[in-house]
Amino acid sequence: MGFWWVQVGIAVVAAIVSFFIHEQKKRLKLHRIPGPAPLPVIGNLHMLGKRPYRTIYDLQKTYGSIMRLWLGSQPAVVVSSPELIKEVLKDKDLQLAERPRGAVSRYVAYDLQGLSWAPYGEDWIHARKLCMRELLSPTRLRQFQEVRREDMLQYGLQPILDAAAQGTTVDVRTIVKRYLYTDMARMMMHKSKVDAKTVIALEDIGRAVVHLVVAFNLEDYFPIFRPLDLQGYKKTTKKVMKKYDDFVSKIIAEHRDRANGTAVKEDDKDFVDVLLSVPGIKSQPLSESALKNIILDIFASSADSISEAIEWAMCELLRHPEIMKKARVELSMVVGSDRLVEESDIPQLPYIYNIIKETLRFHSGSGLTVRVAREDVQIGGYEVPAGTFIFVAQWAVSRDPRYWERADEFDPDRFVKAPKDVHGISSFEFIPFGSGRRMCVGIHLGVIGTVLGLAQIIHCFEWELPNGEKPEDIDMDEDPGFTLPKLIPLNLLATPRLPPQVFQAYSLNV
Ligand code: HEM
Repeated sequence: MGFWWVQVGIAVVAAIVSFFIHEQKKRLKLHRIPGPAPLPVIGNLHMLGKRPYRTIYDLQKTYGSIMRLWLGSQPAVVVSSPELIKEVLKDKDLQLAERPRGAVSRYVAYDLQGLSWAPYGEDWIHARKLCMRELLSPTRLRQFQEVRREDMLQYGLQPILDAAAQGTTVDVRTIVKRYLYTDMARMMMHKSKVDAKTVIALEDIGRAVVHLVVAFNLEDYFPIFRPLDLQGYKKTTKKVMKKYDDFVSKIIAEHRDRANGTAVKEDDKDFVDVLLSVPGIKSQPLSESALKNIILDIFASSADSISEAIEWAMCELLRHPEIMKKARVELSMVVGSDRLVEESDIPQLPYIYNIIKETLRFHSGSGLTVRVAREDVQIGGYEVPAGTFIFVAQWAVSRDPRYWERADEFDPDRFVKAPKDVHGISSFEFIPFGSGRRMCVGIHLGVIGTVLGLAQIIHCFEWELPNGEKPEDIDMDEDPGFTLPKLIPLNLLATPRLPPQVFQAYSLNV
């Protein structure tokens, strides 16, 4: 008996010692990479401040384009040159195709299923293929073109016309977001109408999920606190997810009943119909939690990024009237003044597309993109152990004068002089939708949503700041988070630019 305990004791001590040796080796390997000296326990967390993407921009001037940081006990490597970004997102994409598993992501993501937070593997590959091929492909999106058009009229333009008639201001982001949430709800759950209460409930859930996922959670950097839920995030996440689950379960049950009665025609299918009809892995049906998570992923990732980009673009157009003028010349040549902008106009609006590109560069949709090393890997000639977080410093590279002429100026014409596309294949200094295996699945809808949304509101309305405020006084600070939205919402007065009969021809009230 006594001997048995001695053996167990020796095994435990040996395990602890080997763990510490392993950790020490990991630290030694990482310390070859330049980086600021870490403090005991907290590492470099104290240096990062409220806006880590900006701090990183400053730090890389001292430490170079590959830099090591310690976030509490979590090692991290930051890359901030196009060459190293290419190495991470393209050349070593497979070894780095993991996302961090934050303490709350397990609860947000139905035990890490679906897309954004799912570990690299069969389930994630399958979910991604479903999104790219079945839900967000150009063919499927074309099927919903009429739905998007109706929603833009009713939930986008009509509230602006109402505010214009009453002389009240419009919160640009909120209006665009409400219209997009309605639109996503219809594409995903009901092709007919969705009531305002449902849209507001979904918006609240989406906002809460994004807030929880980006919140600074002590447990992610000090695993010792994991069982304690000190900041209460796990508890809140479970509450929010219960709300979402009740909501989405009802929708799925309704869809199942409908599918059991009569077969839904291909053209009438919404996203839930599609997900219920496609096989999962090895021809098993897609699990209900994977389905729920794919829907949540798409909701939480889509409306915010598009509406925030449009709001930033509007700030820049107000601050640069000459750019607004050029955009309107393009609109008057392509669209004229006797109709609204249609999705089919987008290919003829390259200047407005360049305004969107420049907005995504300058107000970089995501400050830092993050991956995790799935195995030991070499980056920039340094050894990086498995489990290390790899940050791609998108904000830093977008503002770096080594890669951009007059980097601090907003200039859509830079994309005429030196064309770059948004697909993250060739120009790694410009990766607004990321790149590689974990690149944004909504890129096609993201481009349609931003270009069409911006074109429509500047075609239909004149915009000015209320109370005699001047464009140069617009606060341009961003709210740090996932997508860096404008910190203070942009409120503007709108006046219709087109004759009333044009709006009336689309059943809008002027
Ligand atoms: C202006 C619009 C948008 C921007 C700037 C944007 C940007 C991004 C970025 C930078 C990433 C991370 C990519 C990486 O790690 O390499 C991402 C991921 C993602 N985006 Fe978007 N996005 C936009 C619109 C959308 C839309 C409309 C949807 C859905 C309909 C969407 C769904 C997703 C999802 C699900 C992921 C996670 C993919 C994965 O981990 O496999 N996004 N997006």
